[in-house]
Amino acid sequence: MGTDPAGRVDPATPAHNRYRVLVVGAYYADLVFHGLSRPVQPGTEVFARGFEMLPGGAFTPAMAMRRLGHDVVWSTDFGTDLFSAQVLAAARAEGLDESGFRFHAAPVRSVTAALSSPVDRAMVSYQDPVVAYPLSIVLREHRARVVVLPLLQHGADVLTALEVAHELGTQVFMDCQDVPCTLETPTVREILRQVDIFAPNADEALRLTGVPSLDAAIDILAGLVDMVVVKRGSGGAIAVRDGLRCEIGAVPVEVVDTTAAGDCFNAGFLHAHLAGQSLSDCLATAVACGAAATTALGSSAALDLAELPQWLARVPTV
Ligand SMILES: Nc1ncnc2c1ncn2[C@@H]1O[C@H](COP(=O)(O)OP(=O)(O)OP(=O)(O)O)[C@@H](O)[C@H]1O
Ligand SMILES: [Mg+2]
Repeated sequence: MGTDPAGRVDPATPAHNRYRVLVVGAYYADLVFHGLSRPVQPGTEVFARGFEMLPGGAFTPAMAMRRLGHDVVWSTDFGTDLFSAQVLAAARAEGLDESGFRFHAAPVRSVTAALSSPVDRAMVSYQDPVVAYPLSIVLREHRARVVVLPLLQHGADVLTALEVAHELGTQVFMDCQDVPCTLETPTVREILRQVDIFAPNADEALRLTGVPSLDAAIDILAGLVDMVVVKRGSGGAIAVRDGLRCEIGAVPVEVVDTTAAGDCFNAGFLHAHLAGQSLSDCLATAVACGAAATTALGSSAALDLAELPQWLARVPTV
C-alpha cells in the first residue's frame, strides 16, 4: 500500500487516522508463572497455580499500534527456536507488516520467566546474541511517519540514526525502560534532543535525571525533549509540551496484570498525537489504553480501535 509524503497510508481518506509506524526491537517470550503461594527463595521450589507463555518485548508496542488501526512494520529478528515460532505466529495473527522481519538459520531465543506472587514479582531473562541491524538502515528502508523505540538507546550510532530519522521526516517516540544510564552517560543528552516524544515512567525519570522530585525531573527532561510523558501506574500520568503541563488520574480498574500497561499507554498517546489531538486528549487516550491493558494477562487486553470510546468515557476529567 502506498503512503503520501507524510507517511500517511491511504491518502484518499485523509480523515482516517492511519499511519505507517515502525517499531524496532527484540521480541520476548514471557513465561509467566502466576498464583505463587509465596515468593521464591533460593533453595526452594514453589508451584504456580497458573502458567502462560505470552508474546512480549517489542511485540507489544507493535501489536498495540496495529490494534489502533495503523500499518505497523516491526523490525526484529527471529530464529529456528520455538519461542521465535510462537511470537511470529502471534505477530502474523495481529496482521503486522512482515517486511521488517529478519529470519536467522540459528536459534534467536529471547525469554523472560516472570514469577508472580501476591507480594512480589521476580524476573529472569535470557537473550541469544544477534548482530544488530543498523537503525539508520531500518529507518531508510521503511520511511515511516513515526518510529517507536521501546527503550532508551544511546551511543554514536543511535545519535546518527536519529539524525537520519529527522532527515526523513520520521518522528521519534522513545520509551525508557529500566536501562542502566543517566543524563551523564555519553550521548544520552544529545539523543534526547533528537527525540520528539520521550515516555519514561516516574522511577525511570528520577533515576535518569538523578534528582529527588518528579517535578524537577520533568523540568530537566522537558528542557531536552519536545514532549515528555511520564507514566505513574495507578497514579495516572503527566505530560509537558512547550511549557504546557497536563496531569490526569488513572482509570479505576480491577487489575489482573500490569505487564503491558506502559506499551499500551504509549500506543494510545501516539495514536492521538498522530491524529493531531491536544496534549490533554493524547494523555486521556493513553491512560484509557494503559488501564485496559491491565485487565488481562500480558498484552492480551490491548484495546482495539472499536473499544476505545467506551474506555475514553471512563477517563477522569482533567
Ligand atoms: N493499576 C492501574 N490502574 C489503572 N491504570 C493503570 C494501572 N497501572 C498502569 N495504569 C495505566 O497505564 C500507564 C502505564 O503504566 P505504568 O506506569 O505501570 O508504566 P510502566 O511502569 O512503564 O509499565 P511497564 O512495566 O509496562 O513498562 C499508567 O500511567 C496508567 O495510566
Ligand atoms: Mg515501561
